[in-house]
Amino acid sequence: MGSRIVATGRAVPRSAVTNQDLERFMETSDEWIRSRTGIGQRYALKAGESLTAIAAEASRAAIERAGIKASDLDAIVVGTVSSEYAFPSFACQLQNALGINTIPAFDVAAACSGFVYALSLADATMRAGDWKRVLVVGTDALSTMVDWNDRRTAVLFGDGAGAAVLVWEAGSRGVLSSLLRSSGEFWELLSVRASGVRSTIDSEVKRCADDAIKMKGPELFKIAVKSMEDVSRQVAQRAGLRVEDVDLIVPHQANLRIINAVAERLGLAPEKVFTNIERYGNTSAASVPIALDEAVEQGRIRDNDIVMLNACGGGLTWGANLLRW
Ligand code: ACO
Repeated sequence: MGSRIVATGRAVPRSAVTNQDLERFMETSDEWIRSRTGIGQRYALKAGESLTAIAAEASRAAIERAGIKASDLDAIVVGTVSSEYAFPSFACQLQNALGINTIPAFDVAAACSGFVYALSLADATMRAGDWKRVLVVGTDALSTMVDWNDRRTAVLFGDGAGAAVLVWEAGSRGVLSSLLRSSGEFWELLSVRASGVRSTIDSEVKRCADDAIKMKGPELFKIAVKSMEDVSRQVAQRAGLRVEDVDLIVPHQANLRIINAVAERLGLAPEKVFTNIERYGNTSAASVPIALDEAVEQGRIRDNDIVMLNACGGGLTWGANLLRW
């Protein structure tokens, strides 16, 4: 028996913000952003758009592809730090948007590692026998939390949502192992004092610098590479496999240089590493499920392939899931 991702979905805000768009109001260049991060554009929530609606769109796509109805779900687990309200949770808002009631719905706050954490928790609860069909979502809108005058952070982040339907079923496919890690001692490397999601790119609402994302990029870079390498090896070991057995790794899309450095340390050939950061930027908890949905769509994952998801983010948090697809 195991919990298997039977379908995925994704959605992003309507408009893309290209590096050239940023050049118009910020001291930066397409060349700098691409060479340092691999990012060419990102999607940013505009005034009047709702992240809940975007997450609902991604969820409906996954639910439809799974061949079930929203009312068949036993739980909703959402990895996010972008709830519009301190409470209710994002998951309860999403539940309402999907038109279902009474099943448990809750958020997991692990910043960029949110989806990996949410998937691990959903899998563990399914193993305990409580749930048979779970909607796991990763969604964030960090574009609303940057100071658009701070070129060190504003160019990096984008918004979106990715969703997966996890089903408990017989057989050897599904989540093989998960591993979650945190180190609160590094919390100051990446933080946002005040939350609350409202577009800041095209509206009168501007974040004061004190409430915007604070990041120590170069320090984070080094820890991210080391921690993602370690957790990837350990999660494979935990399942009795080696990193060489992995057919495709779908990593958190924070920075192409981080992704390449981790892949190189793990000895993984470029064709075994899925990247789409060029078109999305760092969408935080949404990045892994958006990438997974694209990898599936592009036929990069076949039945029974060994797929690894890994991520690292504010907290610090990091973790990985190993799946037999
Ligand atoms: N455009 C032009 N110049 C810039 C920009 C920009 N957007 N941003 C910074 N610079 C300048 C700086 O001002 C600095 O100039 P100076 O030396 O004259 O002061 C120079 O470029 C180098 O700045 P660094 O911060 O040292 O640049 P670095 O090569 O480290 O790249 C980056 C910065 C991309 C943020 C990198 O450190 C990084 O990706 N770190 C990881 C951060 C991350 O991924 N965070 C996401 C969440 S955590 C996670 O998901 C793992």
